[in-house]
Amino acid sequence: MSIAPKDRIYVALDTPDVGAAIAMAQQLAGYVGGVKLGKEFFVANGPDAVRAVGGLGMPVFLDLKFHDIPNTVAGAVRSALPSAPAILNVHAMGGSAMMRAAKEALGTGDGPAPMLIAVTVLTSLGDDDLAELGISVTAEQQVVRLAKLTQSCGLDGVVCSPREIGPIRDACGDDFKLIVPGIRPTWAATGDQKRITTPSDAIASGADYLVIGRPITSADDPVAAAKMIADEIGN
Ligand code: C5P
Repeated sequence: MSIAPKDRIYVALDTPDVGAAIAMAQQLAGYVGGVKLGKEFFVANGPDAVRAVGGLGMPVFLDLKFHDIPNTVAGAVRSALPSAPAILNVHAMGGSAMMRAAKEALGTGDGPAPMLIAVTVLTSLGDDDLAELGISVTAEQQVVRLAKLTQSCGLDGVVCSPREIGPIRDACGDDFKLIVPGIRPTWAATGDQKRITTPSDAIASGADYLVIGRPITSADDPVAAAKMIADEIGN
């Protein structure tokens, strides 16, 4: 089933301010596929605020990156389900038992089970950081290894950087979902992102969903920015 270009866009609402998040989500409803709420928002405001944003009708990617013992992560997943996220995530480094426990816990809610995604290697970590942690393969090798492990545990996909799309697609096939941040249209400021790609290049390389924050949320006209990105993806 093909996805409409706008539905591939998840807007990162990186703010602790519920009112600002709701205002931006209301403005963008119908122009993007969903919103991403992360730790900054969740720790400040809790699940009621997640429900308030989700209540506006857009799918919510609840980006809390659970990483703990299997029993605790399963409990965290169960506790997240009443907020009705469309996408939830965990760290693949929590291991296969933890990922399987998270997957099992998904089926315990009332509504449709969210998509369950793993984070492989944080893109803030390079080969030297991994060596410091006792991991002697390159970041790319570790990413592919963890993506394959994620897939073998029955999860739906991974979050990955633009440059990891190709190697993961090759290793995990077409049905494995790839959610990609680090997106910058040519007309947007780079900000603090280093390894970036354009929306159309990310989709052409095999991304399923794009996480985009400031190019939309800091634009003078966020709706126009979202439309330009959807048009770019669609062409
Ligand atoms: O504003 P910007 O488009 O850079 O926002 C990107 C979003 O994606 C932020 O919420 C950021 O935390 C998240 N993210 C990222 N790189 C990763 C994982 C998540 O930029 N590797």
